[in-house]
Amino acid sequence: VIFTDSLSASKSVAKEISDLIRVKQSQKQPCILGLATGSSPKSLYAELVRMHREEGLSFKNVITFNLDEYYPMEPDSVHSYVRFMKELLFDKVDILPENYHIPDGTLSKEEIADYCTEYELKIEALGGIDLQILGIGGNGHIGFNESGSLQNSKTRLVALDHITRVAASNEFLGLPNTPRTAITLGVKKIMEAKRVILLAWGESKSKIIKESVEGTVTNLVPASYLQEHKNATFVLDQGTAHKL
Ligand code: GLP
Repeated sequence: VIFTDSLSASKSVAKEISDLIRVKQSQKQPCILGLATGSSPKSLYAELVRMHREEGLSFKNVITFNLDEYYPMEPDSVHSYVRFMKELLFDKVDILPENYHIPDGTLSKEEIADYCTEYELKIEALGGIDLQILGIGGNGHIGFNESGSLQNSKTRLVALDHITRVAASNEFLGLPNTPRTAITLGVKKIMEAKRVILLAWGESKSKIIKESVEGTVTNLVPASYLQEHKNATFVLDQGTAHKL
């Protein structure tokens, strides 16, 4: 779906999310959301906060699982996705603190494998993700599933691609300070989500969006796997979509 700009696109996605939350509320069921970080979902989270404040949208029945976190990473670091999510969404709505989950960047290496299995089991115990929000990396990564990630890949510790580290290096004040590894939800759990919405804005993403939407399905471009998802939508602005 192509919108004139990222703001109207984000409002439309926020409307879909709020409709889902309210339907689940009326059914007395939890709403399981998969959430992303990066710049792309910022305007979506701002719109959800506005809906909470001005339209009484409650997040009390919402349970969230974030896609990824740098490793190692302290939750109170300026760079942590915990901090990002709290500042942009969780601290501004009425979600219960025990209901949001973000991969833990403070584990020892030995603890990570079991932790990742548990993370997936929690999602499964809730019946899977109802709606997964994604951004896309310049190399077509989803979450931190870099080029080469298999379609059945599990939640795990991954090495970040050079291109991903370069993209993040501004925030970390240079490449040497930029993490080399991260914990990411695997492609399998993303593909199992009942609904997937990928957000991408701006000319710089237009080439990888064309490859993801119109190219061959390949592990070199993990976002291309979404072509095989039954209910996935790429929500784009005109700049990102112009090569399609
Ligand atoms: C990071 C995140 C991804 C996100 C990507 C794109 O790599 N881990 O989940 O999709 O950034 O970020 P942006 O939306 O800022 O382009």
